[in-house]
Amino acid sequence: MARRAANFVCQSCGAVHAKWAGRCDACGAWNSIVEEQAADTVPRGLDGRSGRKIAFADLSNAGPDTPRFATGIAEFDRVCGGGLVPGSAILIGGDPGIGKSTLLLQVVCRLAAERPAIYVSGEEAVEQIRLRAARLGVHQAPVSLGAATNVRDIVASLDGLDNGALVVIDSIQTMYVDTLESAPGTVGQVRASAAELIRVAKRQGLCLLLVGHVTKDGAIAGPRVLEHMVDAVLYFEGERGHQFRILRGVKNRFGATDEIGVFEMTDGGLIEVENPSELFLAERSGEISGAAVFAGIEGTRPVLVEVQALVAPSPLGTPRRAVVGWDSARLSMVLAVLEARCGVTIGPNDVYLNVAGGLRISEPAADLAVAAALVSSLSGTPVPADTVVFGEIGLSGEVRGVSQTEARLKEAAKLGFGRAIVPARSGARQRNKGLSRGPEMRQIGHLAELLPILGATHDNG
Ligand code: TYD
Ligand code: MG
Repeated sequence: MARRAANFVCQSCGAVHAKWAGRCDACGAWNSIVEEQAADTVPRGLDGRSGRKIAFADLSNAGPDTPRFATGIAEFDRVCGGGLVPGSAILIGGDPGIGKSTLLLQVVCRLAAERPAIYVSGEEAVEQIRLRAARLGVHQAPVSLGAATNVRDIVASLDGLDNGALVVIDSIQTMYVDTLESAPGTVGQVRASAAELIRVAKRQGLCLLLVGHVTKDGAIAGPRVLEHMVDAVLYFEGERGHQFRILRGVKNRFGATDEIGVFEMTDGGLIEVENPSELFLAERSGEISGAAVFAGIEGTRPVLVEVQALVAPSPLGTPRRAVVGWDSARLSMVLAVLEARCGVTIGPNDVYLNVAGGLRISEPAADLAVAAALVSSLSGTPVPADTVVFGEIGLSGEVRGVSQTEARLKEAAKLGFGRAIVPARSGARQRNKGLSRGPEMRQIGHLAELLPILGATHDNG
């Protein structure tokens, strides 16, 4: 009989250590080493016993579609891929205080009339949740509230719930399994608690919604420990000072990712925003220099948003580059291309870039809109108010075509934009498709062509 021994396994990278340590030598993760009961120390393969045969299935004849329960909150359903799927787990991540609990309470209350709905909070007392529900005007919904943190108790309480019941765990960082020594919120605990809850959800066909606070470096509970365990990962984001909140799908086994749902945080909770473009452009103040409207695509939806830039003389030796809502590396690239390929001098100026409304853009198609805002700020000439801009910029200054030109132009036309500054290549394709009406297109093949449009000459600034 082989000797049984304890192993200390890093839950982040899988390295096995002889003894416990606070930090894994192999991957550098903190607090990720968990004691695991080792199986036989001498590997014996499958020891000659045979297993059960798996019943293989065809790719076709997939049977009935996965059933989904739409919550009726369209912005939420779209990000989930059409609704909640029984036997699945969804992780909702976000900064503390961004509105995760509010959103999920609203979701639970919507579904509570049709199916059992349970809301377990490890952060708030039942009375606090009641107060919040009253504030949201949903306190009549038949939701079962619980304040608990021990996963063993929660699993026992879920016993008897069957297919399609809804369970919210707020938040996974407060949960613990009593077989592990480490404190709640550590990687080991978060992972073990989630694994146990997900196992129960799969077995009983529950729709499990886990709340996860994002840590300072942006990953949910340390090194993305949960993302691969759940079926869908949604991030709830937004700038704290803004009332807009964006639910963004980053992983979804049952639908498309990169979808966004837009909400507005009000005194009465979160309200869906059906036409985000209108909202993001609502506070635009006519023709001012340093602003350009970007026609972007978020998931399947076109979204128009204002990109604002301010280029101002810097009092500092090293000028500032401050960005909100966009990638700062990308800004540096656009600035460098403007300087090196178009002869625009930005050098000693501070540059501030802001995407209005609290949206975060990650599309390269925003390059041209950013360049337009920058050039406009430098030259003091406004980008004409009825103009949208999109296009990717390459390092030699070429303006590259982007996807879904037609959808972008359609959205722009819908909101009354009469002109568009677009990449030359997409224009050609567009004409072939024969888009009858829509904004008048100004096609540019090189970034330098943007300057005369915005009243800038080479070597100004
Ligand atoms: P919350 O859902 O508690 O955030 P999380 O669970 O992500 O930590 O949201 C807290 C914030 O939302 C708090 O700052 C107050 C605000 N809020 C409103 O503005 N209106 C409301 O109706 C509610 C319930 C909260
Ligand atoms: Mg909360």
